[in-house]
Amino acid sequence: MPSIFVFDAYGTLFDVHACIARFEKGAGPDIARMSEIWRTKQLEYSWTLTMAGHYTEFWTLTERALDYALARVPSIPQALKPRLLNSYFELDAFPDARTTLQALKAAGHKTGILSNGSPNMLDGAVDGAKMRGELDAVLSVDVLKMFKPRPEVYALVTDRFQCQPADVTFVSSNRWDVMASVSVGFRGLWINRAGMPDEYPEFAPQKILGSLTELTALG
Ligand code: LAC
Repeated sequence: MPSIFVFDAYGTLFDVHACIARFEKGAGPDIARMSEIWRTKQLEYSWTLTMAGHYTEFWTLTERALDYALARVPSIPQALKPRLLNSYFELDAFPDARTTLQALKAAGHKTGILSNGSPNMLDGAVDGAKMRGELDAVLSVDVLKMFKPRPEVYALVTDRFQCQPADVTFVSSNRWDVMASVSVGFRGLWINRAGMPDEYPEFAPQKILGSLTELTALG
């Protein structure tokens, strides 16, 4: 049965940490720790502002999170900041991302992205990875001025594809994102590349996969 496959962007289709790791030569081994803090704070700001009823676009939160991470890891030269920030426009897609989207399209499925990313960030990443032709929709939460995991955000998918939640397979490497997608009635698939322990037992994914490639076998 043709279905609608919608993907999270950062960490699911695009490899944020791999891109930052390229700076290790100029920045030293602490770059991995800085990258973890950067990503953690970026997400934390999106959640806390949303809970407090506020919205600041993801690009600004990404820059603020980087400022925080650089302050926490002073061995990373501040001069790298513009290049680190700009790396969000030159992200590597995971090696199986494009081929998986192509296989889903070839099987007659619809494909899309639902992301916290600001529209220009997503445009940069999608075009950089040459994925535009493999995606029927690139949806940013920015139109609603609130972030995942608010349920309203996931309704952007059913609105765009004019479908029921049960028609949507939602794919994310973020377990909390899968939780929210399952809670609105999507079929949630968790890409658990790092073999992390499971969470949110009330909102189990239909499947836990080790890579995007495994998705194409599910149909
Ligand atoms: C996104 C973040 C949460 O793309 O990974 O929405």
